[in-house]
Amino acid sequence: MKVIDPCTLVIFGAAGNLSRRKLIPALFRLEIAKRLPDRLIILGCGIELREREAWVAAVCDMLQQAFPQGLDQAAQGRFCARMHYQAIPPGDDTAYTRLQQSLDDNPEFPPNRVYYMAVRPSEFPAIIEALGGVGLLKEKNGWRRVVIEKPFGYDLLSAQTLQGSLYKHLKEPQIFRIDHYLGKGTVQNVMVFRFANLLLEPLWNNHYIDHVQITHSETLGIEGRADYYEGAGALRDMIQSHLLQLLALVAMEPPVTMAAEHLRDEKVKVLKAIRPITQNAVHAHAFRGQYGSGSIDGKTVPGYLEEPGVAPDSTTETYAAMKLFIDNWRWAGVPFYLRTGKRMPENSSAICIRFKKPPQDLMRHTRSGPSQPNWIMLGIQPDDCLKMEMQVKVPGLDLHTRSISLDATYRKGSEEDFDAYEGLLLDVMQGDHSLFLRIDEVETAWRVIDPILKVWSMERDFINSYPAGSWGPRGTYRLFDRDDQFWRHSLNLDGADLKAY
Ligand code: BG6
Repeated sequence: MKVIDPCTLVIFGAAGNLSRRKLIPALFRLEIAKRLPDRLIILGCGIELREREAWVAAVCDMLQQAFPQGLDQAAQGRFCARMHYQAIPPGDDTAYTRLQQSLDDNPEFPPNRVYYMAVRPSEFPAIIEALGGVGLLKEKNGWRRVVIEKPFGYDLLSAQTLQGSLYKHLKEPQIFRIDHYLGKGTVQNVMVFRFANLLLEPLWNNHYIDHVQITHSETLGIEGRADYYEGAGALRDMIQSHLLQLLALVAMEPPVTMAAEHLRDEKVKVLKAIRPITQNAVHAHAFRGQYGSGSIDGKTVPGYLEEPGVAPDSTTETYAAMKLFIDNWRWAGVPFYLRTGKRMPENSSAICIRFKKPPQDLMRHTRSGPSQPNWIMLGIQPDDCLKMEMQVKVPGLDLHTRSISLDATYRKGSEEDFDAYEGLLLDVMQGDHSLFLRIDEVETAWRVIDPILKVWSMERDFINSYPAGSWGPRGTYRLFDRDDQFWRHSLNLDGADLKAY
């Protein structure tokens, strides 16, 4: 366990959604686990004026909502003692000077600082500019680190502009671009699975793999986030960041070491090898849809257009699927299918890898249907599991075959996993960039999806719809290269789960 320097964590947007749902609960879990440094101060910044006591009460309220089963009183006491508050009212020119005075003059606040941008992406540049303006980003008596939430820009050009505004005041090692998917233990397991086992390496290429599917589905809708989601859509919200990161982990070459730069070099290399999608190929490579009303877990839910804050003629996609090819020696010719959707029947994230069929079908007389290929599946959430489907002989006098699934759930009963944010917050305090995105990674990911964004933004008259609670719009089958490729909707051994849409 690395020792963490004493530091002050300044959270912009401390009363907002991300802070309430993720950051404060994650910090509290670290408090319970005794992983926070003794000298850590958490300074919440928000637009409302409030006294420290009122802020502490608001934090206790967040904790009660996040931990309805009850709170460890001693940990809560320690946690609340770390809490301070500073108002940054909009339009108040002196607010950052006051912040600088609080941070620099209060001996209680350790000089090393993390500034966490838990605010709307459009506010990042102004906050950085203001912090730089009052000298709060200068590493004069300790380190200064800035955490930037996704999305980093809304296309390549805006990402580069945002980067320009960060580089005015910060150097690359000070910037932590977060993609919380990389903080999930199950996502890190993709690397362990590949690089701590030799067994699969000889098969991990276009000689044996037919195609790869990466899915993230959610039952939730947009949960009151229309102001963000209307301008983002599923392609930016999930695919540009989380799913392309999963693809990079599945497809990258082994890094020289697990050090941050080596890891990120390999991810960039594979992202750069993705074949560019030209604008006239967009329809063959990408498909979008929007949920209509429907039923989730037996309850009727409204369609996207009925959600508060959504324009009545919005063509923002809540479902996006795409096919990518990686033009390198390992993956030439292997399609990677990515899809994500809101208001789908299940919450599920998984990587499913389908192998090619044996070169000769020697067992064709032993079964009634078509031959079944091997699959390897890595469940990311909610079940962290590893499954492998193989063919075996059915016991009995005749030679009949069937598929079986070798299932391994790798968590042992008492082992607790932590939320992605817990590990990532510790990494920032320790200065470890391994699970954060380097700017060239972000730029390369935008290059992959920019042509699709461009075409979709021009085609605003129509968007396919799918009923909430279904697996997305019909018609996505046109992305598949061959008739025997289908979306896999379940990790269970159940042929009926294989559907074309
Ligand atoms: C976020 C997206 O980055 O990831 C959300 O903005 C999405 O729209 C969420 O719901 C999914 O993350 P998780 O960890 O809940 O699977």
